[in-house]
Amino acid sequence: MKELDLHLHVLVKQEEELTPEEVELLDEARRATYRSYAPYSHFSVGAAVALADGTIVSGSNQENAAYPSGLCAERTAVFYANSQYPDQPIRRICIVARDTKGEFLQRPISPCGACRQVLLEAEQRAGGDIEVLLYGTEGIYAISSVKDLLPLCFELPGRK
Ligand code: THU
Repeated sequence: MKELDLHLHVLVKQEEELTPEEVELLDEARRATYRSYAPYSHFSVGAAVALADGTIVSGSNQENAAYPSGLCAERTAVFYANSQYPDQPIRRICIVARDTKGEFLQRPISPCGACRQVLLEAEQRAGGDIEVLLYGTEGIYAISSVKDLLPLCFELPGRK
């Protein structure tokens, strides 16, 4: 029997260690949480994506009485970016959440499986890594590629 070890490398940064571009993206993701529509979970998520030309696009979770019809912040942001700027690759995404009391989380949340799958395809479409920043007030997780978040991912055989 052989073994396969899959490794995830995460940098845990303080806000002071972010670049000005990263801080701008974080600020936009934080602002996006206030545009969330979450009357059911009362959990507000914001995502901001930076495009290759510097444009920032944000999204927030949008819920619905028919629960599965809602959409996570990450997919709202990525789909909006790719539909408005199809020729601008996504380079970075920052994800922020506030809890049911409205407080920013101390420890970051990670994107759900469906969002990882969508982010993976956005990365393939971008032709380069998408850096993922997951915000927590105690530390910001920086992951250099979406691939790291979805090991052994599904890809259509033969698709480039
Ligand atoms: N949610 C996101 O927007 N992103 C995530 O990564 C996880 C969950 C949303 C979906 C739902 O509106 C609420 O958070 C509670 O699950």
